[in-house]
Amino acid sequence: MSKPTIRPRRLRTSEAIRAMVRETVLAPADFVYPLFIVPGEKVKEALPALPGNYHLSSDIAAAEARAVHELGIPAVLVFGLPEYKDEHGSSAWAPNSPVQQAIARIKDACPGLAVISDVCLCQYTSHGHCGHVKNGRIDNDTSLEYLARTALSHAAAGADMVAPSDMMDGRVAAIRRLLDADGYQDVSIMSYAAKYASAYYGPFRDAARSAPRFGDRRSYQMDPANSREALKEVALDIEEGADIVMVKPALAYLDVIRQVKDSFRQPVAAYNVSGEYAMIKAAAAGGWVDERHIVLETLTGIKRAGADIIITYHALDAARWVNL
Ligand code: PBG
Ligand code: ZN
Repeated sequence: MSKPTIRPRRLRTSEAIRAMVRETVLAPADFVYPLFIVPGEKVKEALPALPGNYHLSSDIAAAEARAVHELGIPAVLVFGLPEYKDEHGSSAWAPNSPVQQAIARIKDACPGLAVISDVCLCQYTSHGHCGHVKNGRIDNDTSLEYLARTALSHAAAGADMVAPSDMMDGRVAAIRRLLDADGYQDVSIMSYAAKYASAYYGPFRDAARSAPRFGDRRSYQMDPANSREALKEVALDIEEGADIVMVKPALAYLDVIRQVKDSFRQPVAAYNVSGEYAMIKAAAAGGWVDERHIVLETLTGIKRAGADIIITYHALDAARWVNL
């Protein structure tokens, strides 16, 4: 009988020893929690496609934000659902719109929590695209002006960080320029740098009412087949002034997260998107997987791949579980 001399199992013999050699440890400070802001007061409506997440009016969002902060989660990412949509998406930059109000109220209720605002047009445009539509096509350069105005309105409301998710060329530079010109040089930019045209956004589009009314987003979001192109997009966003770069979605793109982490010095964020969340919640509801274990395993995998920041709908549960 042959006896191994090297026994990796020795380091797995007890939880104490496993803890000593554990390479990746999750903490609440790793997470960012998304919030969906709707018009009105005292609104808290469950989102069927994202169980455990809600449409919140800005007053309730401020109260929720305090609970998020108490769990040790450092930031929320706010998405707005406007009162009206038009061809240009003008409600995106209207002062005192739901998301601008929520930013101000969250900062007021909980100054220690960082507020990151998603900057895009798709919730606000009648056609549901992330940029300006001209002759049936998405016009890059007009979109830049609208996106920069939107980012400025979020900064003016008190956002600590703006997060453009539109994938137009040059938007980070356009936003940086306008923010700096108006005295918001301390507001950071977290760019959705490598954002893929993904089927995993389904539940989000339902929750944010942001599905495109014609066509799809493949003329601006990236082809899932490409990773060298992701490095090009990330490099451009960094040149334009992005402080944090994001890869989105996370799970089908762990290799991209790793490559971005190894190629650049900026902090890397990964978005564990709505479809990834919904699949786990559905399987857990069916009793086919253990939710707590699968969530922590999934988030650990995203962190191990190189993410410094994980945006996730599991944030509240995960923060409680890692705090136990
Ligand atoms: C829109 C936006 C999307 C998400 C965040 N911002 C969807 C899309 O591009 O259609 C997806 C988030 C998720 O699925 O959780 N700019
Ligand atoms: Zn969009």
